[in-house]
Amino acid sequence: MTAVVLDGRKLAVEVRAGRRERVSGFKDKFGVAPGLASVIVGDDSASRMYVSMKQKACSEAGINSMKRELPAEASVEELIGVVDALNNDDSVHGILVQLPLPRQINTQRILSLINPLKDVDGFSPVNQGRLAAGDEFMVAATPLGVIRLLDEYGIKVKGMDAVIVNHSIVLGRPLAMLLLNRNATVTVCHVDTRDLKSHTVKADLLVSGTGVAGLIKADMVKDGVVVVDVGISRKKGRTVGDVDYEKVKEKASYITPVPGGTGPMTVAMLLDNTVKAAEHILSLS
Ligand code: GUN
Repeated sequence: MTAVVLDGRKLAVEVRAGRRERVSGFKDKFGVAPGLASVIVGDDSASRMYVSMKQKACSEAGINSMKRELPAEASVEELIGVVDALNNDDSVHGILVQLPLPRQINTQRILSLINPLKDVDGFSPVNQGRLAAGDEFMVAATPLGVIRLLDEYGIKVKGMDAVIVNHSIVLGRPLAMLLLNRNATVTVCHVDTRDLKSHTVKADLLVSGTGVAGLIKADMVKDGVVVVDVGISRKKGRTVGDVDYEKVKEKASYITPVPGGTGPMTVAMLLDNTVKAAEHILSLS
């Protein structure tokens, strides 16, 4: 068997086209554009690259974007001041605090201060709690992109044994909830999982997001598995995922490439969340 490729790049283009219409309808209805504010602390190069990609996508979509930058040594109080100002700025409908934050800053404290209505990352405790209760109001973009991609290819997760290798709030935890909401049976693995292979071989759906190149080898998956690779790392000058793609694709039924799989979907879902937040906020006022 050679797997069908889950083409996130192609789907993201389609999602983008639909969104342009939605944004233009939004502007006609409310007389303003949706606004996304990104907050970045320090000068981590990957974080900067992600934020500039998101801003570029906003401008293509007709969404206003702004960036607030703080130095790596910024205090928690300074960052709270920035978040407060954005919570109170009516032109801002979505707030994204790029993670990871520097060590001196208590990440949970900051995320808990973002207005849940503007929390387009879905990282605030209110939105994580809503999701855990089965209410998908604002959900993190990366797992949302995974679900959207599976839906597009008609992959039904109900009843599947789903194994996720990642337990972060960015991917593993919200994805576990999304899959549970769809009645998959979910196992969440992480860095301290004792025998990773004993779990992955049972997976009907395997999602990995560790950043360890080649972690998932062909002998760790069963025939017909659906493989979603959210990992990203550099190997010999190339961008690669967690999965040994060439070998695993011979066993899988579906597989995402890296790049061109889940990455483009993440940006697409963040922008969708921003438009959703803006529609929700403005329809309340
Ligand atoms: N860091 C890695 N992924 C993400 C993401 O989706 N959102 C934010 N805010 N930070 C991240």
